[in-house]
Amino acid sequence: MPKTIEEVVEVIRNHRCYSHPIFEHWADVGPSTEAIGALFHQIRCFCDATRPGWNFPAAVESLGLPDEGNLLQEIVESEEDHGPHLATMAGLILNRAAGTEICPDLFDQKSVESKLKNYSDHLLGELPGYDPESGLTIQARRARAVFDRRKHVDRDSTYRNLGTALALEMISNRHLIPGEKYCLVDSGHYGVNMTDPEMLYLVEHWGEIGAEQKHENNAMAAVGSLLNEETEPLIMQGVTDFLDSLASLWDVLDAALLKSGYRSEVLKSLAMV
Ligand SMILES: [Fe+2]
Ligand SMILES: [Fe+2]
Repeated sequence: MPKTIEEVVEVIRNHRCYSHPIFEHWADVGPSTEAIGALFHQIRCFCDATRPGWNFPAAVESLGLPDEGNLLQEIVESEEDHGPHLATMAGLILNRAAGTEICPDLFDQKSVESKLKNYSDHLLGELPGYDPESGLTIQARRARAVFDRRKHVDRDSTYRNLGTALALEMISNRHLIPGEKYCLVDSGHYGVNMTDPEMLYLVEHWGEIGAEQKHENNAMAAVGSLLNEETEPLIMQGVTDFLDSLASLWDVLDAALLKSGYRSEVLKSLAMV
């Protein structure tokens, strides 16, 4: 018996990526401005890789599945502009954390993003496998590479991509976006709220009417209608490739920048002993 869509969803919910403590640790630790910049650089580079659909929606259509292809195309189209919005939010958080205008123009995406990369180079540049040109950890490169498969049009890659898409949308809607809201807004560290225009990125993604809820519904509908004995192993492979690679990225960022959840005061007091 192949898995039902509910069982696939349950596998995703039970993966450690789905409940990774990185955002709780961010709220708990209150990282330095530099660490925030490095975190945003890695996160935004990961998110960038997840937006383009490449050949994926068309490949789904060419399997004779036009409705499912359309559902995926809708997700891709709704991702437009999210890169600039994310840069604006990151710049505002940096300014608030620093207490000074280190990003004077929050709508100058390139300049904000190059500041983020500088912080990342400074704090993470010595990690094995760090690429100085892109400023990416090896874990971020692996997480991004899962989405390169969207350039392939063969049947097996396409079913794997469907599994990846479902896991991505569930993680975005249930972990990444709520996690960002928790550490950036609810923590009170940065004095921002959801009505600030610079926080548009979160507003657009979060909650029942946010983009991610719609993406999750679309991905679930597409995968649910294609799940059978033959496609299940491929779909599950795509789920696992994505969840394992993202969990590794969260692990390295958590360990390198958030001290795996230790409060900075605790670390300081340990250092004094
Ligand atoms: Fe987005
Ligand atoms: Fe999404």
